[in-house]
Amino acid sequence: MSNSAASQQKLAAHHADLLVLGGTLMTPNGAARIDLACIEGRIVALGNLANLWSADDTLDATGLHVLPGVIDSQVHFREPGLTHKEDLQAGTRGAVLGGVTAVFEMPNTNPLTLWESDLKAKLDSADGRAWCDYAFYIGGSATNADHLHTLENLPGCAGVKVFMGSSFGDLLADEDEVLRRILRNGKRRLAVHAEDEARLTERKALAEASGNVRIHPHWRDVESAFKATRRIVGIAAETDRRLHVLHVTTAEEMAFLAQHKRRVSVEVTPHHLNMHAPECYERLGSFAQMNPPVREQHHQQALWQAIRDGVVDVIGSDHAPHTREEKAKPYPQCPSGMTGVQTLLPTMLNHVNAGRLSLQRLVDLTSAGPARIFGIEGKGRIALGYDCDLTLVDLNAKRVISNEWIASISGWTPYDGMQVTGWPIHTVIRGTLAMRDEALNGTPQGKKLQFLDATLT
Ligand code: DOR
Repeated sequence: MSNSAASQQKLAAHHADLLVLGGTLMTPNGAARIDLACIEGRIVALGNLANLWSADDTLDATGLHVLPGVIDSQVHFREPGLTHKEDLQAGTRGAVLGGVTAVFEMPNTNPLTLWESDLKAKLDSADGRAWCDYAFYIGGSATNADHLHTLENLPGCAGVKVFMGSSFGDLLADEDEVLRRILRNGKRRLAVHAEDEARLTERKALAEASGNVRIHPHWRDVESAFKATRRIVGIAAETDRRLHVLHVTTAEEMAFLAQHKRRVSVEVTPHHLNMHAPECYERLGSFAQMNPPVREQHHQQALWQAIRDGVVDVIGSDHAPHTREEKAKPYPQCPSGMTGVQTLLPTMLNHVNAGRLSLQRLVDLTSAGPARIFGIEGKGRIALGYDCDLTLVDLNAKRVISNEWIASISGWTPYDGMQVTGWPIHTVIRGTLAMRDEALNGTPQGKKLQFLDATLT
């Protein structure tokens, strides 16, 4: 906890800023029916506190499960440059309404986030406007490769992100020599979008000739993803660099990555767990289009198996909004990507309800996992001394996800009309209620995340 004199006095007097009473806490020991006290943003007591502690504010968590705050380590909030799709304020508002307490934001904005000044501009924009905590990725490219060891350690930087295949925006590093330079210049875990640019270019005619979004997983086929993953894992071994493979979509990659877990961490997205081809393309058309694509059911099943086997470290939403008008353009001119930060937790809780995922494993994937693999300081577990970031959920609440509920500027979700069981009720960030009773509360209080020294994690 904080060592200020005021906090020591409050601790001695058993007077908290916030008490969370009567809930089931998801602790490192498992689920426990205990209370929690918070002083100056940190957890200072756990146990049966109801008659022993007083507080300025009390949250009745009876009937709720209290999760360590959900961390979404892949969102595109589009600011600067593309704020007709999303911005930091709306994006983080959606995060908090979906029970997310911290995000890592992606560098394919306009301008790209390549230099210290770009990162600083994002940090300045987030200050006073972000509803949840945040860090920003620096893009890795040929132009800044030799400076990445410095850039990756700037305050507020989540690390380096590389696009091996073109997706949205101009960020690309597709040649082995450039990738080697990027990976040699730094120590932190490097995040990669693994699709092979040469193969995508070779096969693009397929998409153009077809004009139908159902071809999307065949244009950007299994080998496009698997080849890039093999290449980058090889280069990571050569350069002794730790890697984070974003949004893995194929059975082939999961089998391969299972053999490289010492070096490589793995993300899956809710979209690839919730949807499969061709059904999603028939139902949603290009609104189901993302990169890498949603694939056939056997790949979806392999992703679930990889979750059960422990190959997957984190679930990230890849929240990538585009307007409805942009998405409605004829394929393949329509951009890839869909919203997700607000629906990550509700759709995953629905899987918990269906028995496909344990709540303990979900916490591992959305709180403990990101904190562990990225070395986020003070986050990811309900334990003494940790930040009081909490996501309080009602596992029995039934709600219908709707476009109207979505805070994103783009205003839509692929899950419009879907009923789910399990819903976030309160979102607590460093002891402050950012969402109370399913409604935004107070003013934006987000701060930049702190990271452990890369050499220590
Ligand atoms: O579908 C996607 N959209 N995949 C990405 O990698 C980028 C994203 C975007 O920024 O729109």
